[in-house]
Amino acid sequence: MSAEEYKLAAARAAVELIENGMKVGLGTGSTAALFINLLGERVNDGLDVVCVPTSKVSEIQAANLGITLTTLDEEPFLDITVDGADELDRHLRLIKGGGGALLREKIVAMSSDRMVVIADHTKLVQQLGAFPLPVEVDKFGVRSTLEMIAALTEELGLKQELQIRETSEGTFYQTDGGNYIVDCQFDEITDPEELSDCLAMLPGVVDNGLFIGIAERAFIGGPDGVEVLEADYGEYEV
Ligand code: 5RP
Repeated sequence: MSAEEYKLAAARAAVELIENGMKVGLGTGSTAALFINLLGERVNDGLDVVCVPTSKVSEIQAANLGITLTTLDEEPFLDITVDGADELDRHLRLIKGGGGALLREKIVAMSSDRMVVIADHTKLVQQLGAFPLPVEVDKFGVRSTLEMIAALTEELGLKQELQIRETSEGTFYQTDGGNYIVDCQFDEITDPEELSDCLAMLPGVVDNGLFIGIAERAFIGGPDGVEVLEADYGEYEV
């Protein structure tokens, strides 16, 4: 089976959790897109849900499938969010933001009773950090903010290579909210909680791609089927 089929198997497991009347957060990325397709099929079969997308891309996809959309301003509390991840460990600590949607993804996930992660098995790691950590920053003083991130993470003893994300045209990539992203290659993030807390203290940092204590379950598609990981907080009824 291919990575695409593993992602699809994880998305299939997650779509089973969606029930009539639910308010659902829709993630961003190729795995989340598979989930949105499956949800669209269930909506066409009569499932009644309202959804909040985490990006313009997911919004357009969902709207094209006939999924009813709303906003967090109208529905500030959601039942469930289903989203992908760039990396996750067995404590359900995640790196997200490879697709540039980390801020909205975190707001939507934290507005939800539960966040469920869907991924193929290559995303599951012993230690986070091989994937560059996306840090969303305000445009103002972006180079100063980058230097502050460099100084801070050096103090934390992290090997680092920092880069402001660019588009294929060579301009700075902008998030849906109009911010920039600094991609931080650390190789190994030994203490994700400490790193996340420290980054949050920098004034130019809007948010970072570490999702800690947010996800409650992960469906990991792989050669042996779909592995279910549960956080040791929160409860499920499935
Ligand atoms: C977007 C994200 C995505 O969930 C993450 O990049 C995983 O994407 P994919 O499913 O395409 O591997 O965080 O900001």
